[in-house]
Amino acid sequence: MTTHSTRHSIQSTLAASLTAYLEDLQESGVDGIPPELLTAAVADNSLQRTAPAEQGLENIMNEQNDAPEKHETLEQIRKSLGECQRCKLGATRKNLVFGVGNPEARLVFVGEGPGADEDRQGEPFVGDAGKMLNRIIAAMELNREDVYICNVVKCRPPQNRPPESDEVGSCSPFLLRQLRSVRPEAIVALGSSAAQALLQTKVPISKLRGKFHDFHGIPLMPTYHPSYLLRTGGNSDSFWSVWDDMTQVLQLLNLPVPDKSRKK
Ligand code: URA
Repeated sequence: MTTHSTRHSIQSTLAASLTAYLEDLQESGVDGIPPELLTAAVADNSLQRTAPAEQGLENIMNEQNDAPEKHETLEQIRKSLGECQRCKLGATRKNLVFGVGNPEARLVFVGEGPGADEDRQGEPFVGDAGKMLNRIIAAMELNREDVYICNVVKCRPPQNRPPESDEVGSCSPFLLRQLRSVRPEAIVALGSSAAQALLQTKVPISKLRGKFHDFHGIPLMPTYHPSYLLRTGGNSDSFWSVWDDMTQVLQLLNLPVPDKSRKK
């Protein structure tokens, strides 16, 4: 049964996504929807059949196949975010944290959202969790500059709480545009917020990790968040689970798998 609060949260997510989408249309010069189109859409009920958020996201990821000449650069996407106030996180952030790394990366890491250090510096994963992510990337014998790193939400949630559904709804169209722009060969979703937002599921990260999922034709590997590894330790079961997941990613990318064995 759908509770009142669940319904309310779905409605806010849809409203936030729709607002972000309409603002984007406006920024790209569309200043209105022809009334006859609106009447036709309402008449055939299509706006009610597919959730606008999902419809928008589907379109965002599929657009590139339809119109490859319309490739959007990361700079264009950053520009269209502007001084974003699409959700309440905009009011409390110091810096919007867009993303960093190779715009043509074969591998993208997606985290949850900026913490205090990232908010101060405007770059994702530069605090303690970032140091742990750097260790993982180095263990894969890759450089931070080889990959692309971003988050589900671009502004710091207060007290580092997980982003709320309306915030994810406002920000995820931009994440999807980033992923469409980079078009990596694999995505690693760091932690439950990222994995659940990208895969549109509530399944816990412990059940999602360890195998590839399909994200619009791109293999997506969910794994534990680096902050979780900071809590469990650098030689914990979770740490080695992450290494197993990264081994699968390296194999998928046809990259050498460094020989690592667990310290006794
Ligand atoms: N945690 C995240 O999920 N992202 C960051 O950028 C930093 C910490």
